[in-house]
Amino acid sequence: MCGIVGYVGHRDALDVVLHGLGRLEYRGYDSAGVAVLTSAGTLAVTRKAGALANLIAELDGTGRAALRGTAGMGHTRWATHGAPTDRNAHPHRDATGRLAVVHNGIIENHAQLRAELEREGVELTSDTDTETAAHLLAAAYASCGDLPLAVRTVCRRLHGAFTLVVTHADEPDLIVAARRSSPLVVGVGSGEHFVASDVAAFIEHTRDAVELGQDQVVTITRDGYRITDFHGAPASGKPFHVDWDLSAAEKGGHDYFMLKEIQEQPSAIANTLRGHFIDGRIVLDEQRMDIQELRDIDKVFVVACGTAYHSGMVAKYAIEHWCRLPVEVELASEFRYRDPVLDRSTLVVAISQSGETMDTLEAVRHAKDQKARVLAICNTNGAQIPRESDAVLYTHAGPEIGVAATKTFLAQIVANFLVGLAVAQARGTKYSDEVAREFAELEAMPAAVTQVLSTVDQVRELGRELADAKVVLFLGRHVGFPVALEGALKLKELAYMHAEGFAAGELKHGPIALLEPGLPVVVIMPSPKGRAVLHAKLLSNIQEIRARGARTIVIAEEGDETVRPYASHLLEVPAVPTLLQPLVSTVPLQVLAAEIARQRGYDVDRPRNLAKSVTVE
Ligand code: F6R
Repeated sequence: MCGIVGYVGHRDALDVVLHGLGRLEYRGYDSAGVAVLTSAGTLAVTRKAGALANLIAELDGTGRAALRGTAGMGHTRWATHGAPTDRNAHPHRDATGRLAVVHNGIIENHAQLRAELEREGVELTSDTDTETAAHLLAAAYASCGDLPLAVRTVCRRLHGAFTLVVTHADEPDLIVAARRSSPLVVGVGSGEHFVASDVAAFIEHTRDAVELGQDQVVTITRDGYRITDFHGAPASGKPFHVDWDLSAAEKGGHDYFMLKEIQEQPSAIANTLRGHFIDGRIVLDEQRMDIQELRDIDKVFVVACGTAYHSGMVAKYAIEHWCRLPVEVELASEFRYRDPVLDRSTLVVAISQSGETMDTLEAVRHAKDQKARVLAICNTNGAQIPRESDAVLYTHAGPEIGVAATKTFLAQIVANFLVGLAVAQARGTKYSDEVAREFAELEAMPAAVTQVLSTVDQVRELGRELADAKVVLFLGRHVGFPVALEGALKLKELAYMHAEGFAAGELKHGPIALLEPGLPVVVIMPSPKGRAVLHAKLLSNIQEIRARGARTIVIAEEGDETVRPYASHLLEVPAVPTLLQPLVSTVPLQVLAAEIARQRGYDVDRPRNLAKSVTVE
């Protein structure tokens, strides 16, 4: 959460920073601010509550001339400490106004630091944890006159997770940044260097990047960068080349990133599968555990949050079926504070698009403390969760800018299946020809999803009809249950509409009391050719819904004539194997939520109160 960017080079820093912030706004949009080391030797700061557009309007109003320089930094905020107001917007400055800092994360001992500063007579002007760092940095700099040293000194005093970027008017040609458990990458250009939360901030200038390690400080200048640990010992980051181009981080003719990302789902699936079936075997991306350890697994926990958790629920059906292993799926935030029974033969699968979700990261650490093996499924190369895991499988969905997860959900489901097949193969619960057949079925999925995407106009029309609904319920069984939960989550987060997903069998145990004439109920039908008993049970549920006058919106396999008479509205999806149905049946629900949100006039890419990377607990 919070996006930060810093720049030193030969271009107009304000311009570079504002463009960078535009690409990081998915991380938070409660306020935005910039600081530029001006050619006049001053530090000029402008900050504004609300989205980046507010800051730009402010700069356009006051004129940008006061912010001319070739070094600067910026911040887009997801508020944790202090309301989203101008005074709490970053950058925060020291009392002289010559030092500024932007911050992502939470300084957990800020109350103690604030009390200490107040005792010393420092006047704090915001409610943020970040401002304490500004004053501590100023004091450290005053005593040593060396900005990187001051940053290292202060970082050693801070608890929690943080990325800091610091500038000082007396050090006009450098920017110092530090990280602990929050992301930070360096962009290596020619005669210019960048620091940012995400490469998207500088991808238009350079694709050469360096991922900083835990507890490292980097100093960037025009001509280079230097990394140390928090004690000043030389250190190195992990260089990498960004293999996606700028168009992947742009809307490509769509009104919203999310709509583009929904359309990209076939390629997200294809790219996630690519290169993982070699010589008849499933291969992961990184494996720091040996095959015997995979063979010895006797229990699996899947931990994740939100949409990633729903993908984990789908994984349970596949792993139990293929590997004959008990699988528990847990919300990472709950798992972390329980005493789950884990040991060396437990595999914990941690699923995270960003790879930096704090709840999931802490669950990984909790599992590792108990000697469990951890396998990460992640969409962000080199993020903290894969770094701390024993094995990694990346979802190659490309950057997801829309705050609501779409293409990464489908890619996570596919990656879960690859993990299930890899474990089944290691344990010998599936013959290699069976693994090959399952893989071939996965390879057919991009075409099936493309076919669903050809029906979006019909779904959008339905979205227009439902735009005024107060409540929508979603029902599914088996793998249709997590799809129901995901459909409800999309509607809540995008359209701010009350929506609930239920296991259809639970309807009669309580939720049926909610049914009333006209209430829309979305039902995810299983294939009539797959598990016939499931299909029959859902048909009965549909009758129960109709008997109470509620409206049935049914997602069913094409050609399923048995359900047609009972559907107030029928959305057909192609026939695919039972376990793979979430890959087709989720897509109309994503489109539906986006359309209802649009009809209600909401920003589909930036739902209120949310952020893409949730780096606080
Ligand atoms: C919903 C959504 C969130 C994330 C959750 C986990 O659309 O995006 O529920 O799925 O915050 O995020 P990651 O996958 O980055 O760990």
